[in-house]
Amino acid sequence: MTNETEIIRKRYDRLAPYFDRIESMMEKMMVGELREKIWQKVQGEKVLEVGVGTGKNFPYYPAKSITAIDFSPAMINEASKKRKHSGMVVDLSIMDVQQLNFPDNHFDSVIGTFLFCSVPGPKQGLLELKRVCKPGGEVLLLEHVLSSNRIAAAIMHLLNPITVRLVGANINRETVKKVQACGFSKVDVLPESSDIVKLIRAVK
Ligand SMILES: C[S@@+](CC[C@H](N)C(=O)[O-])C[C@H]1O[C@@H](n2cnc3c(N)ncnc32)[C@H](O)[C@@H]1O
Repeated sequence: MTNETEIIRKRYDRLAPYFDRIESMMEKMMVGELREKIWQKVQGEKVLEVGVGTGKNFPYYPAKSITAIDFSPAMINEASKKRKHSGMVVDLSIMDVQQLNFPDNHFDSVIGTFLFCSVPGPKQGLLELKRVCKPGGEVLLLEHVLSSNRIAAAIMHLLNPITVRLVGANINRETVKKVQACGFSKVDVLPESSDIVKLIRAVK
């Protein structure tokens, strides 16, 4: 793990016990609905969720075999408590998305929500998602990105060091462009997207 990855991982370890409370307002206002929309698009039997966090996506999981990873042991611990209460079967592991311990062409769908704002090497992480996805399979992402409005974008750049320091998240990432640069056969930004929250579907 690089030094930067280790710093961000520790930040999420520290946040994990409070994470759901910190985000509860935003979750109720809009995020829950978007989670449902992206999970409805998951196809195939073998599904990988990357950056599972505290398991906020569990209520939207389809009845399939789900493997979920996160690099923060404290986040995985929170997710495993939720898994216990829900009675769901989810295979949880501690793993860095920049170096996935899965074979090539293994999953039908790979999905991540609000992950690539915090991964130190987003290109490396995205290429790993592509690698473990089967040919014809899909990588689905729900991500917040830099605004296309110049004034809003300038404010986001200004505030970015603060959000990284507080919660490990960059608010000025251009994740759509990063996905487009990974050599997928097709990348769509889905119509449910807004200026700063994007639902992205990339086909391998
Ligand atoms: C903003 S939280 C989102 C959590 C969850 N996906 C959600 O939608 O609530 C980002 C998550 O990504 C994880 N994460 C960040 N970088 C990672 C990496 N390199 N490998 C694996 N997980 C990572 C963090 O530990 C954290 O749980």
